Amino acid sequence: MLEIEGLSKRYGETVALSGATVAFSAGTIHTILGENGSGKSTLVKILSGIVPQDEGAITFDGARFGGGSPASFQRAGFATVFQEILIAPDRDVTDNILLGLDGLWTRGVARNDRRKTAESALRRFAVTDIPLDVPAGSLPLAAQQLVVLARAVVRRPRVLILDEVTAALDFGDRQSVFRLMREMADAGSLLIFITHRMDEVKALSDRISILRGGRVVRTEEAGVSSSDELLAAMAPRLAEELSHV
Ligand SMILES: Nc1ncnc2c1ncn2[C@@H]1O[C@H](COP(=O)(O)OP(=O)(O)O)[C@@H](O)[C@H]1O
Ligand SMILES: [Mg+2]
Repeated sequence: MLEIEGLSKRYGETVALSGATVAFSAGTIHTILGENGSGKSTLVKILSGIVPQDEGAITFDGARFGGGSPASFQRAGFATVFQEILIAPDRDVTDNILLGLDGLWTRGVARNDRRKTAESALRRFAVTDIPLDVPAGSLPLAAQQLVVLARAVVRRPRVLILDEVTAALDFGDRQSVFRLMREMADAGSLLIFITHRMDEVKALSDRISILRGGRVVRTEEAGVSSSDELLAAMAPRLAEELSHV
């Protein structure tokens, strides 16, 4: 469904991404696992049209994807939840969830319909306790994260990219997010799940790619390697140190 080939990105002297090549399939949860600084968010930004790659190609549905802008990725069915919680703090929760969808919402659409759409998006995460009419910035961080997730899900994306989205969430919310991810993958979407947490990888992934120092060092089906082997591929020095503890 989606292929990246030889994607590279430099920031001055820093090579953030180097020749990244991965094939992603529809209907899967594809985890990108890597330590801090390994290039995960850079890949996410390229796949969202936020930053252009220096080199390499993106192929989507069998055609070269020029991409170029966030809007062109969104039109193609991509939605991204970025590592930083991007919220319009003074707008209410409904507005935040429907943000950017306004083109689809003619002026005449009743406020009540908008609320209902926002509410049902949150309910997909089993969330019923976030008030819709308060400024989103007044909510606790975990609730803000759920609002941002709902904003992505309400677009019914074919490709949903989640960059370290579980950090602010407690165990229960995390499980709800995972459940919805599985549901969306089963319905045919591609979920690209970015994390540095090994415990999340096992529970969730169909396929795993490991980024190290900007390079994709391996891609494999989940269950092929043990957590220790994945850790060794992701962070060889850390794995070595741990083996002496
Ligand atoms: N805008 C930027 N300017 C300069 N360096 C950057 C920028 N974004 C990322 N980097 C560098 O690129 C490398 C990869 O970063 P990033 O993609 O954020 O990694 P990760 O998400 O895996 O932690 C890091 O060394 C980081 O410091
Ligand atoms: Mg990151």
